[in-house]
Formats: sequence, structure tokens, C-alpha cells
Amino acid sequence: MFLGTYFSMSSLWSQIRKDFLITDKYLYFDHAAGGPVPRPVREAVEQYYREQAEEADFAWMKWVQRREEVRQKAARFIGADPSEITFTSSTSQGMNYVAELLASQGTVLTNTSEFPSSTVPWVWRKAKMIWQEPEKNGVLPLSHLKTILTPEIKTILTSFVQYATGFRQDLAKLSAIKENRFLVVNATQGFGAFPIDVQEMKIDFLVTNSYKWLLAGYGGGILYLRKAWLEKFAPQTVGWRSAADPEKMDNRHLELNPDAMRYELGCPNFPGIFAVGAAIDYLTAIGMDKISKRILELTDFLIQGLDQMGVEVASSREPAHRSGIVIFKSQDPKTLWKKLMAEGICVSARGEGIRVAPHFYNTEEELGRFLKALKRFI
Ligand SMILES: Cc1ncc(COP(=O)(O)O)c(C=O)c1O
Repeated sequence: MFLGTYFSMSSLWSQIRKDFLITDKYLYFDHAAGGPVPRPVREAVEQYYREQAEEADFAWMKWVQRREEVRQKAARFIGADPSEITFTSSTSQGMNYVAELLASQGTVLTNTSEFPSSTVPWVWRKAKMIWQEPEKNGVLPLSHLKTILTPEIKTILTSFVQYATGFRQDLAKLSAIKENRFLVVNATQGFGAFPIDVQEMKIDFLVTNSYKWLLAGYGGGILYLRKAWLEKFAPQTVGWRSAADPEKMDNRHLELNPDAMRYELGCPNFPGIFAVGAAIDYLTAIGMDKISKRILELTDFLIQGLDQMGVEVASSREPAHRSGIVIFKSQDPKTLWKKLMAEGICVSARGEGIRVAPHFYNTEEELGRFLKALKRFI
């Protein structure tokens, strides 16, 4: 129904904008920080709380079944098997589960432009780390990485898109040189903006949260663990619902759930999971290819406007490495950010200046208004 409704519309994007109440009030280009939720996501969560109020645990079985449907959707969204998907509360939580498996498995190659959610869980566990420095415009060249891949390196840890530069790593190319190393991807800044296929990209572990490009609000997340590694590695963190049959209430033994679900330690965060499910439905109905194309059209428009104003863009312009994030340089990003926010224009002060991160429902007209305001301030 959802698909049919959307694709029969004459103007897909202008119809879609109506689902984003934030467009009534603000120029919102801060999806790399936290995105708004579109109407169907809000409705899914509202429905859950109505059921919680009216039915409480009479609804338990219905919610468990709905959770499993979301697991199937999340798996399909990234080319995984549902048994490889677990729901988390954040990227940080998911990354901790990965680090607890791999931190003692040899050296970890990462880079200095990561968001600390990627790296801190490994550093805390005293993993041996090698840090690649990004080059100009935040580029992390694979040619360089190839030359430093020694046999001691067992894990490659990277973001799909870097939060402070907008550099998008070519994961398919990276996987072609990784050999038998674990590829751990923090997908947070690309999840919901660019298609991801864990099989094609040979990703071993993928973590993301729900509240940025996925448009599902705070409190949710997804962790993908390849089946082979679920079979090989036992978690260090467990809960009563890590058991194959939690209803056994066995205090003395734990027969571990063979699936990734073993990481859902206690009772589920149903609203967070249902929000993720509704967001995945929403993005899938539009089409991830359409979404990423639209984001690149919008950032093209933005970059052209910045060029015309003589503002220096600090993000890579290489088509394969562009993302939804454009950073431009500013002498005093904090002051500029404050002025923009005071005008109802939401961006972030990050990296070498100001981070602008439009999503598919934004328009050239909105970016034009942003550029006009910027002109006044610089
Ligand atoms: C790449 C990246 N990972 C993780 C996070 C934070 O994720 P969480 O709060 O879910 O741990 C951010 C936030 O900006 C980020 O940019």
C-alpha cells in the first residue's frame, strides 16, 4: 500500500516533504547530528504507546512478532540474514559488543578521523591500534592503506562516512584488499543515505544507530554480525534473554541463543525497534538509490553555491567519496553557527568549519535561503 501510494504521486519529493513537520519552521540541514522523524515513524511509535496503555502485556506476543518483522526488514535492507541482526540502543553499544570479541584478536587498523564511538571501545580494552592519518579533504586513500596492511593487522575498523569530513569510504574496494581480516564498519553517517550490502561489501560487523540519516529518532540501533563469527565467538556480555529459551528461567546454566538476538539482553526496546522498522519501510518505499542520488544533487547545488561565494569546501569532491555531509571552512565556526541557529538554520560546527548535511526531503530553494543568510554573515 505504502509503495503504491508513493509511486503514483506526480511529484514524489514535494509529497514526501509533507511528512516532515520540521520544514514548516526551520531550515534543517543537520542530519549528521540528529534527524527528524517522518510521519509514519511517529505513527508507529504512537501506536505502540497506545497499545501499551490500552493492552499492556496482552499485546506482548503481537509486539514480539512485530519485532521479528522489523528484524527481517533490517536484514533485507543491508543484504543480511535475520539471524545476523540484533537491536541495540546506540552505535556505541554495538561497537562495544564487537570490540569485546575482536580486541584480543590482533592489531586494529583505524584512522584518526573516526568519531570516538568507533574507537573508544577498543582503546578501553587495550587493543593494539594503528592510526591512519587522513590526507587533504579527509581522504583515506586505499592505496596507502594497502602499503601498511601487515600480517599482524587482523581488523580494519572504519566509518562508512566520516562525521567531520564527509569522506565516504569505498567499502567494496576496501573489502577487495582486506584479505582474511575482519572488516568492522561504523555505518552511522551513511545508514539511510546510501545503500549498503554487507555481502557485496564483505562486511564482517556493522554498527549504526537510528537517529541520524535513518530518521527513526533516538534510542535505537542495529548491529550486524556475520553468521560465521556468531558461531566462532562467544559474547562476554549476556542477559537472561541471551538464552535460547529465556522462558526456562534457568539460574544455573545458559544455553546461548545461536542468533545475533543473544545481544538483546533484557526485554526489548519496542518503541525504538518499531521506529526503525517504520523508517526502513519509508526509505525502502522511496528507494535507496533515489535517496542517495537526491542527496548528491542537493550537495552539488550547495557546493556550487559555496564556490560562487568563494567559500572553501573542506570535503572531498571525488564522486565516489562524496556523501550527505559538506564541510566548509570558517574562521570562527562557533560564532557563525550561533548566528545561523538564531535564524532557524540548523547545521553543526564540526571539523574545519561548518557541517551542512541535507537529506532527500530538503530542497534547492531551502539551500538557496541558507546560502543567502551565509552571505550576510561572512
Ligand atoms: C560516525 C558516528 N558514529 C557514532 C556516533 C554516535 O553514535 P551513538 O551516540 O549512537 O553512540 C556519531 C555521532 O555523531 C557519529 O558521527
